[in-house]
Amino acid sequence: MKASEPKFVSFRSLLGDALRGARALGLGALLSVVAALVCGCTGGRGLAVYSVAVGGSPRPGKQVIAQYKCGTCHTIPGIPHADGVFGPPLNFLGRRTMLAGNLPNTPANLVQWVMSPQSMKPGTAMPDLGLDERQARDVAAYLETLR
Ligand code: HEC
Repeated sequence: MKASEPKFVSFRSLLGDALRGARALGLGALLSVVAALVCGCTGGRGLAVYSVAVGGSPRPGKQVIAQYKCGTCHTIPGIPHADGVFGPPLNFLGRRTMLAGNLPNTPANLVQWVMSPQSMKPGTAMPDLGLDERQARDVAAYLETLR
């Protein structure tokens, strides 16, 4: 019986450790909720303000996409009435490896493609729509958010 005494003590101290651990975890969980809320306001579900990679902003990019009616040919998440099926859907564009079949999906290629697909793949079924570089960068910034 005497031998059980230290066991009991050590159980209590284990319990103490566990409780301290749980409290620490609780704090960790609270911190990650706070972090998620903060991220939700700045990036996360909202649109980032500016993309350094493509040198443009997604919010005006959305407007350019609507203005140039890219959605008549493409299905594009987040753009009203963009449900075209003539061109490929632009879902997950930010995660794609290739553009238009054989062009690496780099920020520079994406901007250039949006500005002038015919210069990158002569004869492609996507016409040059006459976007200037500013507009193309903003459009690319929006497309990059599709992940
Ligand atoms: C007349 C129809 C048409 C319009 C309008 C159009 N596209 Fe396209 N787009 C296409 C076609 C067709 C392709 C496929 C080209 C190819 O693979 O050669 C394409 C390809 C693309 C790609 C590459 C997609 C991939 O999966 O490889 C992007 C990005 C893109 N278009 C963006 C746009 C944006 C942004 C606009 C508006 C500024 C737009 N397109 C307007 C027809 C169109």
